[in-house]
Amino acid sequence: ARRRQVDAALAPFRLNHSQLQLVKARMRAGLEAGLRSNQSAMKMLPSFVYQMPDGTEHGKYLAFDLGGTNFRALLVKFKKGLQQNTRLYHKIYTIPLEIMQGTGEDLFDHLAECIGDFLDYMGIKNARLPAGFTFSFPCEQTSLNTGTLVNWTKGFKATDCEGHDVVNLLREAIKRRNEFDLDIVALVNDTVGTMMSCAYEDPQCEIGLIAGTGSNVCYMEEVKNIVKIQDPDKKGETEDGRNTEKMCINIEWGGLGDDGSLDDIITPYDTEVDQNSVHPGKQRFEKLTSGMYLGEVVRHVLLNLTRKGLLFRGHVSETLKTPGIFETKYLSQIERDRLALLQIRSILQQLGLHGTCDDSIIVKEVCAEVSRRAAQLCGAGMAAVVDKIRENRGLERLNTTVGVDGALYKLHPHFSIVLQETTRVLAPQCHVTFLPSEEGSGKGAALITAVAI
Ligand code: BG6
Ligand code: GLC
Repeated sequence: ARRRQVDAALAPFRLNHSQLQLVKARMRAGLEAGLRSNQSAMKMLPSFVYQMPDGTEHGKYLAFDLGGTNFRALLVKFKKGLQQNTRLYHKIYTIPLEIMQGTGEDLFDHLAECIGDFLDYMGIKNARLPAGFTFSFPCEQTSLNTGTLVNWTKGFKATDCEGHDVVNLLREAIKRRNEFDLDIVALVNDTVGTMMSCAYEDPQCEIGLIAGTGSNVCYMEEVKNIVKIQDPDKKGETEDGRNTEKMCINIEWGGLGDDGSLDDIITPYDTEVDQNSVHPGKQRFEKLTSGMYLGEVVRHVLLNLTRKGLLFRGHVSETLKTPGIFETKYLSQIERDRLALLQIRSILQQLGLHGTCDDSIIVKEVCAEVSRRAAQLCGAGMAAVVDKIRENRGLERLNTTVGVDGALYKLHPHFSIVLQETTRVLAPQCHVTFLPSEEGSGKGAALITAVAI
């Protein structure tokens, strides 16, 4: 009886083939809607990146990378024709919660302080090197180095940033500090940086995927299809003669469903997670698919099973009631193959959850259902993207590469396999290679900077 009740509780997480087909179709409709107008659930943001690196990049560049939880500062040296000789120096700084959710001025002052520290550390404070700024949030760009933050996502909600040009906010903070100068050449989403850094190794790469704290994709789109920025006089070439037939579009696919289009697959647990999140009602697809939320979904299922007396002898502990205890790294650990039940039990005990071996089996099943659904949904989304590229080119078959980064993809034992399998089944005319990025998207931002100047 316990078995049957647990099964019933987990049933809403199991998506069948036709449901996944529907998600693919909705993603496809979302891509088209976002190319037409600014009012759609997925923002489809132009990146002003038209070209891939070609190996001729040369020189020293700085990159600063504000991702989900960390700020990375990098110095990258490229050698023309010698991709394997790229040198990279970096330092990681954590962003405390009170800075993420404090004032914008404090956040950008903190970034400027970290940059100053890094320049000191590298001994290049007076060099004024060109810099790329990876900023992993939706920005409405009007050129390569201007971009208005549309809205914060993930765990950030610093005040007075939304609606402002984030490159300017950083420049002003650097001015306030009055210690060094920077030449910010490019503003880059992490998906775009990841695609570029993988394209440096594999010229077939034209898609970037992040499956980490957040979830998002970018891809190369034909400029003629980006209806909302159509300027009939400027087709094919920029003023300096560069090829502009294609531009990278940051999909912001995490926003799929914000108009209600995923309501039929959203479970009551997902609704709980959404309601208690930093940005309720927003990023509904991201909340089903990314590292910041999967652990919370698991926790809500466990709470429900416990309240029904199906887990932990019906005892709802304070730990279980604590938001955020189940980080994605625990999901990855619990789902590792051949992990003995006793080991799962001890992971749970470290978290403060004391249960039997039977409880451990159920917890593992819950983790598996939630992460499997996440990977399948990303696969369905990816199938829509690769089929769109294939159709753009009028091809019967498409061979393509996706550059990928993010802890969920890299550390979870099954996520990448389920993602690839789902993409294959839902886009049978595409052969998609997933290439994990080696150095993160900062290197990609440095490449964009190198290509731009
Ligand atoms: C890295 C980027 O490549 O991947 C970050 O440099 C990005 O900006 C990150 O956000 C995603 O990883 P996670 O798992 O830390 O969100
Ligand atoms: C969130 C952000 C997006 C970013 C993604 C991955 O979805 O809105 O810009 O690419 O997280 O970090």
